[in-house]
Amino acid sequence: MLLEGLSKLEYRGYDSAGIAVRDGEKDVRVVKARGRLSVLEEKTDGGRTVPGNCGIGHTRWATHGEPSENNAHPHVSEDSSVVAVHNGIIENYQELKEKLLRNGYTFYSDTDTEVAVKLIDYYYKKYKVGPIDAIAKCMVRMRGSYALAVMFRDYPGEIYAARKESPMILGLGDGENFIASDVPAILKHTRRVIYVGNLEMARITPEKAEIIDLNGDVIEKEVTEITWDAEAAEKGGFEHFMMKEIYEEPRAIEDTLHSAIKEGTIDISGTGLTEEEMKSFSSVWIVGCGSAYHVGMVAQYVLEDLAKIPVRVELASEFRYRQPLLAKDALVVIISQSGETADSLAALREAKRQGVKVLGIVNVVGSAIAREADYVFYTLAGPEIAVATTKAYSAQLIGCDLLAVALGRARGVLEEEKIKELLSDLLSLPGKVERIIEDKERIQWFANKFANINDVFFLGRGLDYAACMEGSLKMKEISYIHSEAYAAGELKHGTISLVEKGTMIIGVATQKRIFEKTISNMVEVKTRGAYLCGITSAGNYSMEDTADFVLYVPKSDEHFSATLTVIPLQLLAYYVAVNRGIDVDKPRNLAKSVTVE
Ligand code: M6R
Repeated sequence: MLLEGLSKLEYRGYDSAGIAVRDGEKDVRVVKARGRLSVLEEKTDGGRTVPGNCGIGHTRWATHGEPSENNAHPHVSEDSSVVAVHNGIIENYQELKEKLLRNGYTFYSDTDTEVAVKLIDYYYKKYKVGPIDAIAKCMVRMRGSYALAVMFRDYPGEIYAARKESPMILGLGDGENFIASDVPAILKHTRRVIYVGNLEMARITPEKAEIIDLNGDVIEKEVTEITWDAEAAEKGGFEHFMMKEIYEEPRAIEDTLHSAIKEGTIDISGTGLTEEEMKSFSSVWIVGCGSAYHVGMVAQYVLEDLAKIPVRVELASEFRYRQPLLAKDALVVIISQSGETADSLAALREAKRQGVKVLGIVNVVGSAIAREADYVFYTLAGPEIAVATTKAYSAQLIGCDLLAVALGRARGVLEEEKIKELLSDLLSLPGKVERIIEDKERIQWFANKFANINDVFFLGRGLDYAACMEGSLKMKEISYIHSEAYAAGELKHGTISLVEKGTMIIGVATQKRIFEKTISNMVEVKTRGAYLCGITSAGNYSMEDTADFVLYVPKSDEHFSATLTVIPLQLLAYYVAVNRGIDVDKPRNLAKSVTVE
């Protein structure tokens, strides 16, 4: 059960894993292994060598201490009275460690988690107050973020938990209960879930699951019924989740569109935003990390052009620490697939602290960002498993397009006729994306030919530049090839010195007004020996005069071109990575959901 649950959480980290199992009153047995979960599975013969009826497990993405068996969780106190797994970062672990060292504790790992375990052990033994009080005392002392699951030797058949910032849920079964950091881990056993709140604790036994506050009082919580299907998170015949998810893009786009286009008109009232509110915003800030930030880069052009509202795009990790000067009537849009990204969540809280309204564009229902935002636009991409985002990115773009049209209408800058045209163009996107995917063999051929290159540069202007940023991230993330995206006009201010004979340049040019300008920049690099791959809209055949290889995407309203140009870029990265023999779904050093800062 533990191994199976962990396999659904591997997207959170996969550099080592471990389990701790108890069989009735017998002592706990801990088995850990460096590497993928499969190594642990082998080591325990699929769990058979550690039988039991109560246990905790963990799959790790290293923050403190290198990925090793020693640093893998679970961690145990010296006499094994306390054993725990932990997600998050204990920021003041050094100070706590010194306190424990002064009290005679020793440490075998480099992790902050071992410090947390031994701190619980310390309070548990010093005050003899029982698990909940010992954990509560620790919570008061620990700074940072944590989702902790703890077993105590004196309490067989019981698991305790504590949460601050890092996600955690309880699953309510029949004669069995669960704690996990995400729903897929327990979906095979139950669909009834309680979301553990911030600074809350939990205690589960086979018969009972209770949430407890810092005062030690049991609190009533709402039980949520999970309606989505575990099947959706399986590979369904594809070699990799990434390819499966690329194939799901037309559906993700279509479902997301239909959630807001009703009876031929746009309606985003489901987010909680009223027409009055939309009219009142003076500016928009878009905040996200990685690909979500790149969505913001595209959205900036679309929103400013269609809704005539000033937009700023910020990296969540920067926004959260630089005390941005937000106007009270601004709208902050936090984009996140997981809804749990630590930096994006912190950015949301910073905006709310300044009294500014927040719209979350989120894929995971009930995630922290969805719960804390004032308004939520759910992208309907379904569960995304591959570390490299594809369908969620596309659904987020659609979410922003719809927001742009809705704001444009509310602000009186888009005529009904124009809105109709835009909506009809948006509705044609799923079919166009499908056509690009059907033609994937050409991209595969090209990728195979160039899989051994060392560097690649992506060039574009405006919206095309924003799409290039995503194409470049995809490439480096899964193929480990050095790649950079440049605003085409900026190249000659330094980077062009890197171009030499055979350097791969991918130029994206879909916007009529600046098509010739981008082509000129492509000619500049060609003159210096670069190999040019061009991506443009059907009809722009003059691209062939410049580029060595051209990929065409169907024509669309230019505002929505990134939805189309990103597909060949995703496929290109995918095929290059496959050709290089890389584990596409789980590239090194990464985690799907970055719940630490
Ligand atoms: O879950 P989020 O959308 O908040 O995640 C943000 C980034 O971590 C994510 O987009 C990341 O850049 C992807 N691995 C890119 O493919």
